[in-house]
Amino acid sequence: MILDIVQYGHPVLRQKCRPVELVDDRIRQLASDMLETMVDASGVGLAAPQVGEDIRLAVIDVSHDPDCVSLLKVNGADAELESLMPLVFINPELTCSQEKETAVEGCLSIQGIRAEVRRPAAVIAKLPQLDGAVLEIETDGLLARALQHEIDHLNGVLFVDRLSAVAKVSMKNRLKRLLAEDHTG
Ligand code: NI
Repeated sequence: MILDIVQYGHPVLRQKCRPVELVDDRIRQLASDMLETMVDASGVGLAAPQVGEDIRLAVIDVSHDPDCVSLLKVNGADAELESLMPLVFINPELTCSQEKETAVEGCLSIQGIRAEVRRPAAVIAKLPQLDGAVLEIETDGLLARALQHEIDHLNGVLFVDRLSAVAKVSMKNRLKRLLAEDHTG
């Protein structure tokens, strides 16, 4: 089922989400619906608060571009992006590299706005799966960025919070206009 995507200004996007304590049918259905919703919206990631659920669950699929990472290890071994995607995880833990890089980001909850965001270039992410397995993923490129962006969502942080000071000023009025829009429709 395709879910409604919550838009900028909704308080759930600013909540620090709760850990998923128990993976039951409701959680499995929600994850499946989130994947469907992400694909329908042509997104590369979606976090539970974006569909109104304040829990630490997110989905990612960056397989549209097989060359979007130059490093990919899963539990210490070299891995193929296509076989790892789509990715569903709960209660993630993230370790970021010192080195940073800048790239353009957007968000399904902040429509019409894309901007450059500077973030750590590589990450190691510990990603518990719905079946109880834990994947430790070491990666860079778009997957590292998507992991940081989605995990930010679980902490109530949006990519517009991470813009440079100059970009924040120039974005201010556009964000205000988004807040003024009616999100009930
Ligand atoms: Ni987003």
